[in-house]
Amino acid sequence: MRLTVIGTGYLGATHAACMAELGHEVLGVDVDPEKVAALQAGRVPFHEPGLPELIAKHTASGQLRFTSDYAAAGAFGDVHFVCVGTPQLKGSEGADLAYVDSAFAAIAEHAAPDALVVGKSTVPVGTAGRLADAHAGVEVAWNPEFLREGFAIEDTLRPDRLVFGVRSERAETILREVYAPVLAAGTPLVTADFPTAELVKTAANAFLATKISFINAMAEVCEAAGGDVSVLAEAIGYDDRIGGKFLRAGVGFGGGCLPKDIRAFAHRADELGVSLDFLREVDAINMRRRDKVVEVARELCGGAVLGARIAVLGAAFKPDSDDIRDSPALNVAARLRLDGADVTVHDPEAMDNARKAFPLLGYALSAEEAMQRADLVLHLTEWPQFREIDPARARSLVSRPRIVDGRGVLDADRWTAAGWQFRALGRPA
Ligand code: UGA
Repeated sequence: MRLTVIGTGYLGATHAACMAELGHEVLGVDVDPEKVAALQAGRVPFHEPGLPELIAKHTASGQLRFTSDYAAAGAFGDVHFVCVGTPQLKGSEGADLAYVDSAFAAIAEHAAPDALVVGKSTVPVGTAGRLADAHAGVEVAWNPEFLREGFAIEDTLRPDRLVFGVRSERAETILREVYAPVLAAGTPLVTADFPTAELVKTAANAFLATKISFINAMAEVCEAAGGDVSVLAEAIGYDDRIGGKFLRAGVGFGGGCLPKDIRAFAHRADELGVSLDFLREVDAINMRRRDKVVEVARELCGGAVLGARIAVLGAAFKPDSDDIRDSPALNVAARLRLDGADVTVHDPEAMDNARKAFPLLGYALSAEEAMQRADLVLHLTEWPQFREIDPARARSLVSRPRIVDGRGVLDADRWTAAGWQFRALGRPA
């Protein structure tokens, strides 16, 4: 089939490459000519394992191309996927739909009358119906995306499920054809009306955020009562109904999705006259974990961090990503810097992005360099390479062997045995 993918950011670039991998002819469309030129040359402007290779493979064969020309996209595609961003509005919890609205308007103007325009962006419930009514000349469907950064290709080619929000059998048939190899592999398909399809995405992200904040609230209780949240999480996770995933307590969630999605969901629910206020508490618990790391840092530095050298391991909001959007690690680092600490950050992939956004922080090319003469080490993004650090060797680098594990993955016994004062959130000091 001939597909276009409108918006070549994280979601769109991945979707375009994966659709080519499924055997379709794909045209990626973006208003940013620099992005188009980079992708056409096989350069991916963000870190995602395997994606540069996949894009290079399909641009080389000509099966995947990129353009800024909507008229060309309209003439080319049988199916158009809209993958543009829906960031949080400035000064409001709500989502900014300007990109979605303009992408739909632009492709609806140029698409063939029998074309299917499929929304993939995360939107407030009601958006698909509104767009379908506004652009009656094309057929609209909604096909939410559940990919995780760092696993984007795997999640697109072998998803847990596909969700088709459709108003006609024809739309469902076309989408079945697009995803035929994925469906043939046994992937469950849920076909739904527009509101349900839109809500599946926001509900899934709200559930994941709630699960993380639940265990972080338990960490707060453990801190007050002297318990150990990692043992608690293991024990409750053995119950199949609860499940052990997304129960890792620590400095909390960040990134371009969960934080803004729960805010937009609570906001949309208010408009519908339904209270999802508990999501505001989920957000508040999450932010309190950042406060807690700052508080523990102060305590370990004798009451104030002024003048202390602090090494921060991690800048990305999670490992295997260079994404620093709403990163807990950088938020904590910036606050300690504001309190007068001398902060040095190291991250395996996110240094350039971090430097641009937080130019006042210090940066080191390796974890070892960041820890030189440090009074305190904060482990805030769980890159596997930080787990490999030898505590004895690290001890020889720092001024004072004190470490806070903000991700609950370091081996406390090893660090303590090497003479470190070791603290982890939600665990006994
Ligand atoms: C999230 C969802 O997991 C995807 O299913 C969804 O498609 C995506 O948002 C989206 O809406 O596009 P992502 O933002 O890539 O994906 O990251 P996650 O792997 O969900 O992690 C989110 C944050 O939670 C990270 O900061 C991570 O460190 C944190 N986290 C995760 C915890 O603090 N504890 C955990 O147990 C798990």
